[in-house]
Amino acid sequence: MESPASPTPSKNRLTVIDQRTGKSYEIPITDGTVRAIDLRAIKNGADDFGLMVFDPAFTNTAACRSSVTFIDGDKGVLEYRGYPIEDLAEKSTYLETAYLLVFGELPTSKALCEWEEEIKLHTLIHENICNLIRAFRYDAHPMGIVVSTIAALSTYYPEAMRVQDPANRRLQIVRLIGKLPTIAAFAYRHSQGHRFTYPDNRLDYTGNFLSMLFNLQGRDHQPDPVLTRALDVLFVLHADHEQNCSTSAMRGVGSSLVDPYSAMSAATAALYGPLHGGANEAVLDMLVEIGSSKNIPAFLRSVKAGDRRLMGFGHRVYKNYDPRARIIKEIAYSVFEVTGRNPLLDIALELERIALQDEYFVSRKLYPNVDFYSGLIYQAMGFPTTMFPVLFAIGRTCGWLAQWNEMQQDSDTRIARPRQIYTGHPRRSYLPLDQRG
Ligand code: CMC
Repeated sequence: MESPASPTPSKNRLTVIDQRTGKSYEIPITDGTVRAIDLRAIKNGADDFGLMVFDPAFTNTAACRSSVTFIDGDKGVLEYRGYPIEDLAEKSTYLETAYLLVFGELPTSKALCEWEEEIKLHTLIHENICNLIRAFRYDAHPMGIVVSTIAALSTYYPEAMRVQDPANRRLQIVRLIGKLPTIAAFAYRHSQGHRFTYPDNRLDYTGNFLSMLFNLQGRDHQPDPVLTRALDVLFVLHADHEQNCSTSAMRGVGSSLVDPYSAMSAATAALYGPLHGGANEAVLDMLVEIGSSKNIPAFLRSVKAGDRRLMGFGHRVYKNYDPRARIIKEIAYSVFEVTGRNPLLDIALELERIALQDEYFVSRKLYPNVDFYSGLIYQAMGFPTTMFPVLFAIGRTCGWLAQWNEMQQDSDTRIARPRQIYTGHPRRSYLPLDQRG
């Protein structure tokens, strides 16, 4: 790579001059990136390890090639396998979108029927897993139950370790998509002290989920079609979001070739955090705390003073309105026609209106994200706030698995193992206990 500086470097190369040594290097540019490992050739001397990049939150590091999801954060564009999110939200269902994400193409009607039937075959969970859920404290956060239960499933399917076998991968993908609503519903029922309602496979995916949640005493719960469709669309909107924190966890853990249950448990744990999937829960808490539109200016002053964050605002990638938030805002009105208007909506609308005129938020390009309005819908539908990240996890399951499946087929995949800048002590001698001050 090291070469004399070329007066006319070829177009797809980066010419770097290391001022420490005066040497010049030419680094190939492919797909708008340079390979970090190419920088290793840039050394300050024979003993130097070579140059590394420092990017603690991966703000400018492409960690993989992926054909699953495309985001243009400046323009507010989101596409799954090339299909705009707006079209999928309007015309697709969650299971069809899951098929698209996992296999790369929309299914034919025959393939879709078979896929839906296949998923239904895997909605039940082993009775011992039910007992595991029952063993949690009555007030356990359902997300903690879901994280643990997904991990526990790996012990029921030991063959899932064969991650390099495509048929085996497919089976685990179907199992996880099939079982997540059951696990989520049972976690909820446990918190309510209610007996579990087992899957009713006469219903569609989301209708069955609502039935498992809200069916009481054997009376058939008839999920409202508007609410069922709204929740299904919310699952579509949450299905994938390229290399976000939880997907990176899925890929990072999956890169060790562990089974997908263990990897997905880690991804779900990442989603639990308030800066990620826990944000919709935090938004609701924030709106309740604000309590009235008249308190918004004081609340925003504390945000601008750096005392707290405006939850549901801002995004690492979107520097424009999150397209999912726009769709969710529309869905909210159709849901409220059935459930009655959520009184917190007026606070949220006013908060958005004031924030989007405020120089602090405008200059930092902070707009509502997917979590700003979703919690209002979930609450109106009867979900407690602790269930909000669980709902996110159900939707995101197919995205995690699509990314994991892709990763297993990628010849670039190696175990994820970043470097560090060591800031500790230089080598020193061990002091016996009686000689320490
Ligand atoms: N409220 C107030 N200020 C904010 C916010 C916010 N929500 N988000 C970012 N900022 C400020 C931040 O203080 C910083 O200001 P300055 O340049 O003066 O230091 C600037 O904007 C850039 O912020 P950052 O923290 O460097 O941005 P990031 O890309 O590291 O963080 C984020 C992205 C989503 C974690 C952040 O915007 C945030 O904490 N938002 C609130 C939590 C939230 O809604 N999360 C859901 C994200 S979308 C769904 C998901 O991923 O699960």
